[in-house]
Amino acid sequence: NYQAVIFDLDGVICHTDNYHYQAWKQMADREGIYFDESINSRLRGVSRMASLEIILERAQRTYTAAEKEALAAEKNEIYRQLLMNMSPADLSQDVAATLRQLKDAGVKIAIGSSSRNAKTILRQIGIFDWFDAISDGENITRSKPDPEVFVKAAGILGLAPSACLVVEDADAGIRAAHDGGFHSAGMGDACGNDEATYSIIAFHELSDIVLGKRMQNGPV
Ligand code: BG6
Ligand code: MG
Repeated sequence: NYQAVIFDLDGVICHTDNYHYQAWKQMADREGIYFDESINSRLRGVSRMASLEIILERAQRTYTAAEKEALAAEKNEIYRQLLMNMSPADLSQDVAATLRQLKDAGVKIAIGSSSRNAKTILRQIGIFDWFDAISDGENITRSKPDPEVFVKAAGILGLAPSACLVVEDADAGIRAAHDGGFHSAGMGDACGNDEATYSIIAFHELSDIVLGKRMQNGPV
């Protein structure tokens, strides 16, 4: 049994990929840099500046540090505008019901996200005050695959990593969990990641895992 579950946000609790894509795409088009959905999928779980570096691999020229800051700020402005379209309708029944079930069973729930917009997103979808801890891009210095964001979340909860389950859709997040001493459940892109303790297709599978009714994947 786990005493807490630490959830990644983007791609786990809700889906912001397409907003990230649209915002980076506008910036890249204006700069004349090629960018597509497959490059976008490499940005999963990666910090804003590290994402920009991946996009700039296709640039025709080099950019100064100040120019990079400006490009990242431009993207974030567009992205934040798009986030204003989000509402409680973006919270799926499956996610809402599972979170409630865990809380009712006395399991603590936390967020462990690389995003500096995590709190805005949680407010938009109406679940900001459901969480016992929020660790996000605002309180870390090293992005996933570094375990810092999850270690800080466990610290806020006052629990050891071994008492917490991390839920992730990015390989970088599964690596971060593994290196931080956490068990993890991989879903979406990270379903089938062999460093994950469990693989899940549907969110509600977490209830059985957390309440100790389901076995781990093979050796990890
Ligand atoms: C992660 C996303 O949650 O947050 C990444 O998966 C994103 O794609 C990262 O780059 C940083 O987000 P933000 O909101 O701080 O620009
Ligand atoms: Mg994610």
